[in-house]
Amino acid sequence: MAMPLLLLLLSVLLLLSSASANKYNVGDEKGWNPGVNYTLWVNKHRPFHVGDWLVFYYQSGMADIVQVDETAYDKCDASHPISNYSKGRSYAFELNQTKRYYFICSFGYCYQGMKVSVLAHPLPPPSPPPSADHSAACRTRILSSSIAGFAMAAILRFLF
Ligand SMILES: *[C@@H]1O[C@H](CO)[C@@H](O)[C@H](O)[C@H]1NC(C)=O
Ligand SMILES: *[C@@H]1O[C@H](CO)[C@@H](O)[C@H](O)[C@H]1NC(C)=O
Ligand SMILES: *[C@@H]1O[C@H](CO)[C@@H](O)[C@H](O)[C@H]1NC(C)=O
Repeated sequence: MAMPLLLLLLSVLLLLSSASANKYNVGDEKGWNPGVNYTLWVNKHRPFHVGDWLVFYYQSGMADIVQVDETAYDKCDASHPISNYSKGRSYAFELNQTKRYYFICSFGYCYQGMKVSVLAHPLPPPSPPPSADHSAACRTRILSSSIAGFAMAAILRFLF
């Protein structure tokens, strides 16, 4: 009885740890702007995986994010976009297929390198579950912070 239960618990844990997707701010602190070398950015952060998110931060009205195919990417051609995002100041895109994605800015900056191409790899094998030590430390931290919270509430009630 205990064994199947344990296995179930273990597989749930594995599922949880493998489901952790990463969020990448395109260009890091420089965001989606002219004058950023996105090839270097990709090299710094790859490999990307299915389920990861690309978040583009840009200045409203100063840029768009146009998804294109490889040919259009090479030519900075935004005339037949797969999609076009330009509302607001940020745009989050989920890499939900195993393939290469291409994005360019259609405002003329693409020729100077305002374009990014990202290959989404299949999901990696799940990472090992966190060690018992770690979760114990975590529990202790949660416990001590709730004790601190209770103490604070008690003091406040006493004062007012
Ligand atoms: C994308 O949409 C914005 C706002 O509607 C527009 O200014 C821009 O030209 C469009 N880009 C393309 C490639 O259609
Ligand atoms: C993949 O992502 C796009 C854009 O984020 C979304 O519109 C689409 O529904 C997603 N497809 C699936 C199968 O999740
Ligand atoms: C980005 O940096 C790499 C490596 O330094 C360089 O080869 C490439 O030409 C640069 N790309 C742009 C668009 O400046």
